[in-house]
Amino acid sequence: MRNVISSKVANIPPSGIRRFFDIAATMKGVISLGIGEPDFVTPPQVVRAGMDSLNRGETHYTSNAGTIELRRALTDYLRRLYGVEYDLETELLITVGVSEALYLALTAIIDPGDEVIVPQPCFVAYTPGVIFNGGVPVTINTRVEDGFQVTGAQIKAKITPRTKAILIGYPNNPTGAVLQRETMLEIADVAERHDLVVISDEIYDRLVYGIHHTCFASLPGMQSRTILLGGFSKSHAMTGWRIGYVAAPEELVTAMGKVHQYTIMSTPTTAQAAALAALTSAEDDVERMRLEYDRRRRLIVSGLNEIGLKCFEPQGAFYAFPSVEISGMNDHEFANALLEEEHVACVPGQAFGEASGRYVRMSYATAYEKIELALERMRRFVRRHG
Ligand SMILES: Cc1ncc(COP(=O)(O)O)c(C=O)c1O
Repeated sequence: MRNVISSKVANIPPSGIRRFFDIAATMKGVISLGIGEPDFVTPPQVVRAGMDSLNRGETHYTSNAGTIELRRALTDYLRRLYGVEYDLETELLITVGVSEALYLALTAIIDPGDEVIVPQPCFVAYTPGVIFNGGVPVTINTRVEDGFQVTGAQIKAKITPRTKAILIGYPNNPTGAVLQRETMLEIADVAERHDLVVISDEIYDRLVYGIHHTCFASLPGMQSRTILLGGFSKSHAMTGWRIGYVAAPEELVTAMGKVHQYTIMSTPTTAQAAALAALTSAEDDVERMRLEYDRRRRLIVSGLNEIGLKCFEPQGAFYAFPSVEISGMNDHEFANALLEEEHVACVPGQAFGEASGRYVRMSYATAYEKIELALERMRRFVRRHG
């Protein structure tokens, strides 16, 4: 057959994260700091709610937007946490993870050639999502000097008549950076002046340490131009259930709902029942897991700095993003050598669009003892190469 794959798909390389998993899977005794998902299992009462739903015979489609009970619980949740008010009939959509929500947001707003500003490093799906939808990602390199926060001035410098949206993801994967409120206000000001949509991926909103998360939509005047993406994967250890949501003004949710309706129909019914239980009965679990991540965060950040792998202090998510400069290697060389010599897996920063090639991502969503052992191995490694 002739080559039928579209160039926009063919030209995008597969995720750099998966490649490392595949190599690590062939080795024995590997400690993986590569994984971007909780090592906890879903809280038992949430699992039970999913099973109960199945046992009640709830094996059918739900309303396209998601069950009314879940949307109602979600409006309460968002009001309670962030003081934002969404109409459960017109402004919420339950999706197959933030992954689908992100795709819907981009599909709903991008016309061919539209530009979307994407600060990097960032979650691997952002720029491919823009490209798949015919848009042009306009990237910005955030800097360690700015705490890996994108600034209003950086965004302003990238605006053209084709700019349609800014896509931000904080707390950030892979850096762990959290936007300060003043910086958010700067971004809000630019969005207002240039009439831009802000797509705010807040999947790590519940995983912050020593600070409060500010929901972008809660900033003055921002709810009317924000597409808020949220989920259960990280906060509630529910990656495999594949469930998330989008909250946005009616016009945008209607457009996203159209795409959702014709591609997904409705988010899995069992997962929606479990998510309802997650919102109504799992606050203690969220806090239990957050406290444990925080304990591990302090261990890995101080350990890395002690070894000489200089590490910016992450205040959110579950990633450390140390510089590997001391090793004299770039990120890929470092990650390959560390895996080969010490059987510790991490992910090169360039997989997330990091531009300098000097950083790697290490996830601390893994057991405390394993992090201790990984640090020992890394100490040995840096002694050899530093
Ligand atoms: C920043 C960010 N957004 C979205 C996702 C995807 O989340 P979900 O499991 O809800 O599709 C991830 C997963 O790693 C992520 O890190």
